[in-house]
Amino acid sequence: MSNTIVVGAQWGDEGKGKIVDYLTENTDVVVRAAGGNNAGHTVINNGTKYILHLIPSGILWEGKVCVIGNGVVMDPLGLIEEMNKLRAQGVKITPENLLISETAHLVMPYHRGLDQAREAKRGDKKIGTTGRGIGPAYADKVERGGLRTILLKQPEVFAAELRERIDLHNETLRAAGVAEVPAEETVVRMLEAARILAPHITNTAVYCHEAIRAGKNLLFEGAQGTYLDIDHGTYPFVTSSNTTSGGACTGSGVPPRMIDKVVAVAKAYTTRVGSGPFVTENENIGDMLHNMGREFGATTGRARRCGWLDAVLVRYAVMINGADELAITNLDGLDGLDTVQICTAYTLRGETLNHPPSTAADLEACEPVYETHQGWRQDLSGIKNFADLPPLAKAYLKRVEELTGARVSLLGVGPSRDQTLVA
Ligand code: IMP
Repeated sequence: MSNTIVVGAQWGDEGKGKIVDYLTENTDVVVRAAGGNNAGHTVINNGTKYILHLIPSGILWEGKVCVIGNGVVMDPLGLIEEMNKLRAQGVKITPENLLISETAHLVMPYHRGLDQAREAKRGDKKIGTTGRGIGPAYADKVERGGLRTILLKQPEVFAAELRERIDLHNETLRAAGVAEVPAEETVVRMLEAARILAPHITNTAVYCHEAIRAGKNLLFEGAQGTYLDIDHGTYPFVTSSNTTSGGACTGSGVPPRMIDKVVAVAKAYTTRVGSGPFVTENENIGDMLHNMGREFGATTGRARRCGWLDAVLVRYAVMINGADELAITNLDGLDGLDTVQICTAYTLRGETLNHPPSTAADLEACEPVYETHQGWRQDLSGIKNFADLPPLAKAYLKRVEELTGARVSLLGVGPSRDQTLVA
């Protein structure tokens, strides 16, 4: 038995989907434990591109069981659309290979409306959310006014509770001057969604524990990244869940002592979508990557902000997540550069910092301290073995290990399954 958590060490989009897909070969059960369909995981397999938002990428493998855990917020219509798209691509999805926690909270249409209304009200202080209703759904959960997936198995209670919530939230939407949610039409659509999803809904904590007792391997697929974590991220420019390794436990019911390994995933450079501080942001890197057709969001299509690798952030992420190993992705994105920079520390008001400050305003004021490395100037995308990497690329990775304190165990040199190298 070996249970592994995979988390993002940056602001999401680190290529976790690909690393999870790679690790799934030796896994029986793949679990999502936080976030919702704000996430977008792209996996390319045999030339086909699959985009996953709520469903763990283990679904692309025959014989693996995927779990949407209690820590997830689940948009029933979004999930059904995702299931239909994957099925049209030939992916098999059944109540046997996709299980949804009874206690995961639902994202309802009024949450989307509230998300968009709040963002509009924030003006130039906007967070740049995905507009999927994630924040308001978690707010309802914590406020104890949320609706949980178990209701999809109790249509009459669900309809009554939903009508009540629509009524309540429409008051806020009306006051904000935003379109209200049509009550009866929404109830009809949700009852239809409930009929489709009900066979998948079960007590997934019990399922996970039984699987562990039976000697199966679990893989926890992180969504978003450490700096989007509601507690440890660049608050308020964060998402509304615990995206760090602790969230995998609370979001699934599998306790910390049953976790054997944590793998943190980081790009060889840094990206972020949405607003908020980004110390190593660099427009030239952004132009280069966008011209290569890279770094456009899987969920919103937005061009991501880009910059140099920030080892301060990755080091702190290794600490917060208890990461044993690092998976470095997208190393091939740096192939064409004469020199490559790594940020090793920050300066803030004359002081040197080795970890990020705790406020977004202070992080915004930090200046990067860079170290310059010679680029390898070689196309890495065809390399199949770690040993065949050019010495300058190996030196870059060695330095990342020294700066972050975690061993680089996996390396991505392209989007396909066979472009993942084992160190
Ligand atoms: P929300 O999760 O939609 O509320 O958005 C909050 C912040 O998290 C915004 O900056 C989003 O762009 C960011 N975010 C949410 N999900 C992802 C993701 O999967 N990748 C990258 N950024 C994300």
